[in-house]
Amino acid sequence: MQHFEIVGGNRLKGTIPISGSKNAALPIMAASILVEGETVLHNVPDLADVRQLQILLGRLGVKAERDESGAMHLRVEDEMNTHAEYELVSKMRASVCVMGPLLAKRKRAQVSMPGGCAIGDRPIDLHVQGLQALGADFEFVNGDVLLRVKKLAGADIFLGGPFGASVTATANVMMAASLAAGHTIIESAACEPEVVDLANYLNACGAQITGQGTPQIAVEGVETLTGTEHRVIPDRIEAGTFMISAALTNGDLELEGGRIEHLRAVVDRLRQVGVIVERAEKGIAVSSARRLEPVQITTQPYPGFPTDLQAQAMALLCLADGNSMITEKVFPDRFLHVGELNRMGAHLRKAGPTVMIEGVKKLVGAPVMASDLRASAALILAGLIAKGTTRVHRVYHIDRGYEAIERKLAGVGANIRRRDD
Ligand code: EPU
Repeated sequence: MQHFEIVGGNRLKGTIPISGSKNAALPIMAASILVEGETVLHNVPDLADVRQLQILLGRLGVKAERDESGAMHLRVEDEMNTHAEYELVSKMRASVCVMGPLLAKRKRAQVSMPGGCAIGDRPIDLHVQGLQALGADFEFVNGDVLLRVKKLAGADIFLGGPFGASVTATANVMMAASLAAGHTIIESAACEPEVVDLANYLNACGAQITGQGTPQIAVEGVETLTGTEHRVIPDRIEAGTFMISAALTNGDLELEGGRIEHLRAVVDRLRQVGVIVERAEKGIAVSSARRLEPVQITTQPYPGFPTDLQAQAMALLCLADGNSMITEKVFPDRFLHVGELNRMGAHLRKAGPTVMIEGVKKLVGAPVMASDLRASAALILAGLIAKGTTRVHRVYHIDRGYEAIERKLAGVGANIRRRDD
């Protein structure tokens, strides 16, 4: 196994290119199951999760390969298999995105229940309810969800759950409805830019989707979808993570390709903290004053503050001049980084879905353990400003979702190295 060794204290200065969005690329890759002919995707990040989905798609008869330029070509070659097995699904939850496409195109989808993970329970009841509303029969078979249908039919579907809209459930239902007979309305749909990107891809393939980016999506089913060329949007969570790295290190970064309009809630909170964030010619410019003001943050579905930046924001607020508070309203158990940050000298107290953050003057380097993708990013950020050396173990979490993070950070002045354990 590998770890990151970080010597804190360097000010970050320069330009970081933002990669394509992981959470947009994965469902779009899964959508290729629906499509006749070839899809060419540009800006697909080179990540462990993407490689994992390529393997699953391969098992499902979809050839998914990159050319020399890095573009990914996807083409269905065999439609026999409709089973996404535990061995693959358990390694990556986003595998659940094949459910809607398999059902709509091959009339059968058997997908292993993904189970919980480090960020808490991750049920898929909304995915199943939405697909049942389109006419699918559902049963449980040996820990798998089995859905079958003769012909999907459009329906009015309410997709809100106890924590609001679901991103991948919206994706699954929207993908399936694209090939259903008639008209579908998805009410309480997720508004995330990644859902909009998927809808734009499907429309370019011939789907008739409107309302993407709002809580009501309408889909008029079509007979066939045809492959197209599409460029995946930039990763707003990667951009947000680097924005926070600039804020923490009193740095000055330009995030090339970053889209400020996808990060309004984050920009609002960072400005409250005293960070200077501006639109730049090629992306987003971030610089920081020395003093960090404390703030309150509540995570919410888009356009609220993203849960995927909660841990990183907590690392920042550890060093604010006063007391801050973060409440997690999307995944109320997503707090495994709290104990690790405390080991670096933070003063954090968790009470249910809220963490009280008493600002400290400094963090101190320590060996720490990554528990999930975004928690790992938070520990790296803390290491960038901690006194001494931090070792972040279990880097495979970070490789799932950040492309070449150590190269990008070292390129703007961070002292960070990947080492074997
Ligand atoms: N939920 C249900 N029932 C469902 C589905 C979700 O109750 O059937 C609940 C969840 O437990 C959670 C809330 O609804 O409390 C929202 O979860 P959502 O379904 O939106 O999450 P997801 O679609 O499984 C995607 C991202 C996550 C990101 C969340 C929230 C992908 C591949 N994953 O997950 O990304 O945290 O939306 O924005 O798009 C990450 O990149 O690190 C990551 C975890």
